[in-house]
Amino acid sequence: MNTPEVETIVPVALGERSYEIRVSSGGPEGLGRFARVALDATWAGRSCRRGLIVTDENLAASAKPFGDSLRAAGIATTVAVVPPGESSKSLAQASDLYDRLIELRADRHFAIIALGGGVIGDLAGFVAATFTRGVPLLMVPTTLLAQVDSSVGGKVGVNHPRAKNIIGAFHQPVGVWVDVKTLLTLPVREVRCGLAEVVKYGVILDAPFFAELEANVGPILAMDLATIRRIVARSCELKAEVVSRDEREETGLRAVLNFGHTVGHAIEAVAGYGGGFQHGEAVAVGMAAECRIAERLGWVGSDVTHRVVDLLERFGLPTSAPGLDAGALIEAMTRDKKNRDGKIRFVLPREIGRVELTDAAGVDDVRAVLNEWDRGPG
Ligand code: NAD
Ligand code: GLY
Repeated sequence: MNTPEVETIVPVALGERSYEIRVSSGGPEGLGRFARVALDATWAGRSCRRGLIVTDENLAASAKPFGDSLRAAGIATTVAVVPPGESSKSLAQASDLYDRLIELRADRHFAIIALGGGVIGDLAGFVAATFTRGVPLLMVPTTLLAQVDSSVGGKVGVNHPRAKNIIGAFHQPVGVWVDVKTLLTLPVREVRCGLAEVVKYGVILDAPFFAELEANVGPILAMDLATIRRIVARSCELKAEVVSRDEREETGLRAVLNFGHTVGHAIEAVAGYGGGFQHGEAVAVGMAAECRIAERLGWVGSDVTHRVVDLLERFGLPTSAPGLDAGALIEAMTRDKKNRDGKIRFVLPREIGRVELTDAAGVDDVRAVLNEWDRGPG
């Protein structure tokens, strides 16, 4: 891959809500300076002198140097620690954080700093979007999934007991500080889940990037930081480009990020959240299945499916989900947010690097692909 650079700055162009993603592997020291510049670029942030770092129990011990760096830049912080896991993405947890902000006499110039994975980013981001109708939000993502996906783009929210991500807002951060060094403590299963989203970017938008991933499986799995920094930065660039062209998912463009997710969300719903499949694993199976659906439509040849499946499997990700009921999965797909006029819509590949949102796949095509899972390795 390319010569390692110290840091990459990725701009997210959204008019007055524009911000920068800084991708480095240099530790937390520079966070304060980055935060100060990012905050100063906004009305609410300019007079920000205080903030709340929201993190979870697995990361609480590492919060101090981030707080020290912010203090040195004139931002005094306290830390709120929530339990790790999806169950913290709740209105009850948000309410506890509102209590904390009221105790701290937070006003509209008070910053929320989300230090953690996608759960923390979504929860803290939702609180930042709603407290006093919006306070500045700084994202400090510490999982690969959060670094390449959830910290960028402004989707924040919590779960309803009966529906995931159903209560939320669009609230762009003032900046995203990515330090890939934080990934060195991440469990390998979480790394793989993030890699599923990285593979997704290659398939939907960037064939040369997909080829780079194929050529660098070894250094990626060995967590070579220069390689990881490069793939995180490229993923952020691709997401930033999509978000800046369709911030609120209105034109259909942002929906391309949903490749693998129609089947993936159905797997999560049927297997049970927190059950056998983590989100990234379900998306990996979903991408393999959606390639096969595209094959049945004659959109791609088997070579495309083969490359996608091969790369996912080399990253240690599943590509089929035997044992799940096809009828229940299809029923779950009929509730997908992308659907129109009662038809299931999929984002399907036309080739590596190009996808289309479509309702061309019939239920019979989908069922045929799902039934293949029980007939052996796909
Ligand atoms: P997560 O936030 O639950 O983190 C996974 C686990 O890793 C947790 O136990 C956490 O404590 C631990 N962890 C985090 N950083 C660590 C580190 N550096 N070292 C060791 N352990 C660490 O999971 P996730 O996969 O990051 O995020 C999943 C969430 O993201 C889901 O709720 C999903 O809905 C959401 N999401 C949101 C968007 C969006 O656009 N807003 C996009 C994709 C996913
Ligand atoms: N993760 C999908 C999106 O941000 O739109």
